[in-house]
Amino acid sequence: MAKPLRVALIGTGFMGKCHALAWNAVAPVFGDVPRPELALLCEAGAELAAARAAEFGFARASGDWRDAVAAPDIDVVSITTPNAFHPEMAIAALEAGKHVWCEKPMAPAFADAERMNAAAQASGKVAALGYNYIQNPIIRLMARLLGEGAIGRATHLRVEMDEDFMADGAAPFDWKHAATSGYGALDDFGVHAFSLLRVLGFEPRAVTALMTKPYADRATGDGSRRAVETHDVASLLLRFDGLGGTILLNRSAWGRKGRIFVQIFGTAGSIVYDQERFNEVQLYTADGPRDRQGFRSILAGPVHPPYEKFIPAPGHGLGFNELKVIECRELLRAIAGEPAHLLDFSAGLEIERAVHAAARSHESGQWVDIG
Ligand SMILES: NC(=O)c1ccc[n+]([C@@H]2O[C@H](COP(=O)([O-])OP(=O)(O)OC[C@H]3O[C@@H](n4cnc5c(N)ncnc54)[C@H](O)[C@@H]3O)[C@@H](O)[C@H]2O)c1
Repeated sequence: MAKPLRVALIGTGFMGKCHALAWNAVAPVFGDVPRPELALLCEAGAELAAARAAEFGFARASGDWRDAVAAPDIDVVSITTPNAFHPEMAIAALEAGKHVWCEKPMAPAFADAERMNAAAQASGKVAALGYNYIQNPIIRLMARLLGEGAIGRATHLRVEMDEDFMADGAAPFDWKHAATSGYGALDDFGVHAFSLLRVLGFEPRAVTALMTKPYADRATGDGSRRAVETHDVASLLLRFDGLGGTILLNRSAWGRKGRIFVQIFGTAGSIVYDQERFNEVQLYTADGPRDRQGFRSILAGPVHPPYEKFIPAPGHGLGFNELKVIECRELLRAIAGEPAHLLDFSAGLEIERAVHAAARSHESGQWVDIG
């Protein structure tokens, strides 16, 4: 076994905890990698950093993220801070010779995403992005089914991503409402949609898009109201090679808790995935007697790698945090120079290109070529 990697984690919110769980679980789950050394945890304040380091099992803590970059013993940096911090943190870590595992989206500005990719190329280090949904064993099965021609030639794609964490107009203004975070649903959710299409084999060529704001302003902590600068809804019409498709994104969709709905229609059948039924894919094949055709459910199990690393029994189900453990194993593969199922900064830049083309289309009202 290779020697253990020494890890620094920056940020301990929703995704910081998810990364910490992944770093803690990757060795016992997969059994074929040395347990990473959880060396340093950085947060916005020293006290919070110390408390979270103790909870998450990190050896030392700092209130200054630059310590993760400066520390000579750190091999890899997990970046789980709000979007606006990603470029500065990722570039500094890469320039200091660290591998980087950065949450999505890459950066609010395309020029910054380009700088991040340039830093990754110059460093020769692994720079991976947190498109965790591509790691679902069921999504890998979908890619195999498509590759094997299970539904013939794809003729129409639809991806929807809906959640309701911004559906309540009384919810306060947070960093995701500020323009410094990016466009809103378009990049926050859109990068997931584009990453899924990418691993399923579909590259968008042109886009037309409309972004809308369900709420014009929101309450701030001091009792005043602040204008919402991002768009919680985005509707995209896309042209792929030989077919069309849609991506519909909504962070204000009451009742939708974690929905990513992927429908791929083909000449010989259809494949449908609903993220709220995480461990299941629906396959329709237009064969056999017409009077008994219908969608059948395939439940994830040990026959869908790497499900078997977590649970020996089929149908018991993986969850969101498990996808990060899988992503972490793929990151370790990439760092070891092995083929890995991971989207790096250069693939991420292509995803950002599509996102920013959509934003330009929203501005101009015109179709925009991607690429
Ligand atoms: N991959 C996914 O499925 C997924 C899901 C949610 C969020 N995200 C992404 O993860 C990132 C973080 O989102 P979140 O929901 O975890 O946010 P969050 O607000 O829950 O957490 C952000 C954390 O960063 C810390 N932080 C802020 N500034 C810092 C600084 N200068 N130094 C050190 N720490 C600092 C905050 O204290 C907080 O702990 C975003 O880029 C978001 O888009 C990805």
